[in-house]
Amino acid sequence: MFRHSMRALLVSLCALTAASQAATAMAVAVPTDHHLAMRTAAPALRARTLADLSTAMKGEAYAFAVYGLFAAEADGQAQAAKGKLVDQPRPAVGELFRATARTELDEHLHEAAALAGVVGTNAANLRQAINGETYEHQVMYRRFAEQARKDGDLEAAKLFTEIAADEGRHREAYRTALTAVTTGRGTIPAPPKADVVSVPAGLPKVRAARTKANLDTALHGEALAHARYTLFAARARQTGNTALARLFEGTAGVELHEHFAGEAVLAGLVGTTKTNLRTAITGERTEATSLYPGFAKRATAVGDPAAARFFRDTAADEAKHASAFQQALNQLR
Ligand SMILES: [Fe+2]
Ligand SMILES: [Fe+2]
Ligand SMILES: [Fe+2]
Ligand SMILES: [Fe+2]
Repeated sequence: MFRHSMRALLVSLCALTAASQAATAMAVAVPTDHHLAMRTAAPALRARTLADLSTAMKGEAYAFAVYGLFAAEADGQAQAAKGKLVDQPRPAVGELFRATARTELDEHLHEAAALAGVVGTNAANLRQAINGETYEHQVMYRRFAEQARKDGDLEAAKLFTEIAADEGRHREAYRTALTAVTTGRGTIPAPPKADVVSVPAGLPKVRAARTKANLDTALHGEALAHARYTLFAARARQTGNTALARLFEGTAGVELHEHFAGEAVLAGLVGTTKTNLRTAITGERTEATSLYPGFAKRATAVGDPAAARFFRDTAADEAKHASAFQQALNQLR
């Protein structure tokens, strides 16, 4: 249903978002964006529908990130060290997690982003990214680090402090890129390199309920940042700005393979493959039977039929994911 080429998708993304970005596009004088902005108008969605699309994107981005880790565990890539849970390689299950992860990102999240008009001009995308990094750098991770220290979760405090510093560097790189994009002065910085963290099956390494809750918020934030930057990178590539595409892709890699993964270790997000399948089944069933049908009903009620259709179709996809995972689990018994 949502299978379409990246190019077609991006064209529709631009079309949907162009009107809301028109002022920015004109201010920064990016001819391609300007033309798109003048050509199309974004359909207005109700605030409630936009909020539900935003929740959907968060969930889809998170599912993509988690399934990547579950795939690695099933592949037997994540080395089980002393004191960790031990699992045996399950390559077919790894493949199932990877394929499902692609659907969550390339179809579900992309479709929700297109409806919500998340992607704008390169300049608008950079501004959005700078805002997100600023919040994480100045507010979120500092608060989380302070809380973890108070509650004696020192490992978490250390990780949050390190990530806060990374986000500050991301913001600086994006600011430099924004100057280059809008004024032509200077160059787009080279992309950061991710220090890839492997996430073996293991138990949570934090004690306080508050640290656990903050870790969960942070994990969702990192997954969403990764997904957003992936969309922004595709947009930059489409406009011919390869250096900006690389900067977004490199930063997306840090959010996923370093920040999300580092937090996943502390949260004990990965279990044995059987446990991971059970976790996935529960999540997919909730989306299929409660979350997306509820969103669809609401979108229909407020008069957003395109969004309602998306929520209904996605609910059907999630039901298929749940049965595929259930089948895989049955075969492991
Ligand atoms: Fe999904
Ligand atoms: Fe970042
Ligand atoms: Fe991050
Ligand atoms: Fe799913």
